[in-house]
Amino acid sequence: MNTKQQASYVVAAPAVDVVIMAAGKGTRMKSVLPKVLHALAGKPLLHHVLDTAAELLARKVVVITGHGAAEVETACANKTGFAADFDLQFARQEPQLGTGHAVQQALPHLADDGMVVILSGDVPLTMPHTLYHVLKATDGQHMALLTLEQPNPAGYGRIVRGADGQVQAIVEHKDATEEQRAITEIYSGIMAVPAVDLKRWLAQLDNNNAQGEYYLTDIVRFAVQEGAPVVAYKIDDALQVAGVNSPVQLAELERAYQLRQAHRLMEQGVRLADPARIDVRGDLLCERDVSIDVNCVFEGQVTLGQGVRIGAHCVLANCVIHDGAVIHPFTHIDGEKLGVTVGAGALVGPFARLRPGAHLGQEVHIGNFVEVKNSSLAAGAKANHLAYLGDATVGERVNYGAGSITANYDGANKHRTVIEADVHVGSNCVLVAPVTIGTGGTVGGGSTVTKSTEPGALTVARAKQLSIPNWQRPQKVRK
Ligand code: UD1
Ligand code: MG
Repeated sequence: MNTKQQASYVVAAPAVDVVIMAAGKGTRMKSVLPKVLHALAGKPLLHHVLDTAAELLARKVVVITGHGAAEVETACANKTGFAADFDLQFARQEPQLGTGHAVQQALPHLADDGMVVILSGDVPLTMPHTLYHVLKATDGQHMALLTLEQPNPAGYGRIVRGADGQVQAIVEHKDATEEQRAITEIYSGIMAVPAVDLKRWLAQLDNNNAQGEYYLTDIVRFAVQEGAPVVAYKIDDALQVAGVNSPVQLAELERAYQLRQAHRLMEQGVRLADPARIDVRGDLLCERDVSIDVNCVFEGQVTLGQGVRIGAHCVLANCVIHDGAVIHPFTHIDGEKLGVTVGAGALVGPFARLRPGAHLGQEVHIGNFVEVKNSSLAAGAKANHLAYLGDATVGERVNYGAGSITANYDGANKHRTVIEADVHVGSNCVLVAPVTIGTGGTVGGGSTVTKSTEPGALTVARAKQLSIPNWQRPQKVRK
């Protein structure tokens, strides 16, 4: 949301308190996991809604829980990284007697002076900007509904308007007449309503309807009966109000969401080989002239510098790739909490693995089947084939041979290996940490190095070669 617009709403109107309905069972997900905890773009559905509430600068958020209540509450309480702080409360709804009954459970937590925004935990993609418009439509003092033109309105509550065009009621599909069922403007499930009014109207609810439920939507009739205005803010973007009820719907929303992210990236200048084959599960920041080949997955916080190229089938999580670096196909980078940095102009992969705490300087080369963990490689260092660097500090221009490893773990503790600048480590070496290879030194192929070496020294630590001339191999005995 545009912060200026947000500020103008906040100044002019009552505090926003958000109620998120998340008590439903989600039977059609056919899963032991509560529906609202299923992930979209790598994040539980409910977390998307909590993030939206944070963007609205909510004062308080009340989550209505029921099915899997304890699990849902823990998942909310453990969520970190909100854009804003709010007071998070839970209200349990057991049994679930309808949406009106759900919101009734939140009332003890809601102060009379607030504007209550009602959201659903299974509707993840509502834009804060849209909710701002709904809030604006309340004028800080009456009810506003978010509605949608829906060519196939079956199943939804219909917006019934009078001859004057004013909203008269929401009629649920199962209670609607044939004439009402022809209405294509539907209630999205999202509304904003002053807390005082909400409390008064919810007290009047009954369940005399086709489903025997307490319908939140009945409060529209009560408002109209009192002569209170009910305003509708209509959008035509169904994705923003789409709910998830089944794995098919979850996958559809995921693809739609990813396609939107792909388009946003392309609008910023990022070249995507195929916008239908990228997944961003977090925040992907790209500088100019980034290109991304097919089937790449980005998780957590990823930054790609100017001119970075990402090959096909890469997974990049929590990392910063500096200008001009090239990540070749099938590379897996996961910085987890420590992060990974790849220096400008570095070449990584194909088939490389960079783990937490891997920090590569400028023009470092990491080749196929090389694993780097909690290690730094200074500018120009190279490990091109089949190698492991764990808990190592590698100096500038070091060449680390094929098949070499740092033995960093003694079974109880981790130790560091220091390879100073301009060292050449031959193939198939084992550097048993803690150990330092002095500047400019050379380690002969096949060496197992257990003691630190002097700068400039050649170190060879393997059995001396023995050759026996004219060696006769044993002959097979014939029986
Ligand atoms: C509701 C609206 C309908 C609207 C539709 C939009 C009512 C009566 N109807 O219908 O007008 O077009 O949403 O999707 O509100 N929930 C609870 N406790 C309950 C019942 C539901 O927490 O007792 C939660 C559900 O988990 C869900 C949300 O409330 O997150 C909406 O419930 P759902 O059953 O999907 O509403 P609909 O009947 O589809
Ligand atoms: Mg229902």
